[in-house]
Amino acid sequence: MTTPLPSDASRTTMTEILLPTHANALGNAFGGQILAWMDICAAICAQRHAGLVCVTAGLDDLSFERPIKVGEVVQLEARVTAVFRSSFEVRVVVRGENPLTHTVWPCVEAYLTFVAIDAGGKPTAVPALAVATQDDERLKANAHVRREQRLARRKAAAGG
Ligand SMILES: CC(C)(COP(=O)(O)OP(=O)(O)OC[C@H]1O[C@@H](n2cnc3c(N)ncnc32)[C@H](O)[C@@H]1OP(=O)(O)O)[C@@H](O)C(=O)NCCC(=O)NCCS
Repeated sequence: MTTPLPSDASRTTMTEILLPTHANALGNAFGGQILAWMDICAAICAQRHAGLVCVTAGLDDLSFERPIKVGEVVQLEARVTAVFRSSFEVRVVVRGENPLTHTVWPCVEAYLTFVAIDAGGKPTAVPALAVATQDDERLKANAHVRREQRLARRKAAAGG
């Protein structure tokens, strides 16, 4: 049994500037570009925690609350919320930032499930997550509820 690891050990931040190539005709970020950065940020966080190559197994529903425009900054932050066995959940929060005024606003957040893969290409157990604060406890409890809902949805989609 390996020592549980704190979420701070794998917490990952990324900062991007929104260029015209990342935007739609309104000058707002393409949702797909934001999603790609979210997946990258979460994957780095996942692999820092697992110490193994990880694949994205799923992404829960999300809604874009406010746009980020060309010339503005995209802040991303990912942290592990709960470890199950070979799978575990990573929360990614995305904020927009006006670099001239330092104004920051929430854009979107999502929960991604990663699965750690061993040298033989099979799912393998990852280190447990150390829970130190009330916030850690709350995120973990909510993650377990979401996992049950995911498993139930997958079972229903597979026909029972
Ligand atoms: C994710 C993947 C490795 C799971 O493989 P599998 O043979 O179904 O493995 P298992 O059924 O043993 O499941 C392994 C774990 O993944 C979880 N899992 C599998 N599919 C999942 C999904 N869609 N959503 C959430 N969790 C999932 C299982 O609950 C299990 O969790 P646990 O070990 O913590 O109990 C496999 O489906 C896969 O390779 N998918 C494609 C991944 C990919 O290409 N991602 C995009 C690029 S990175």
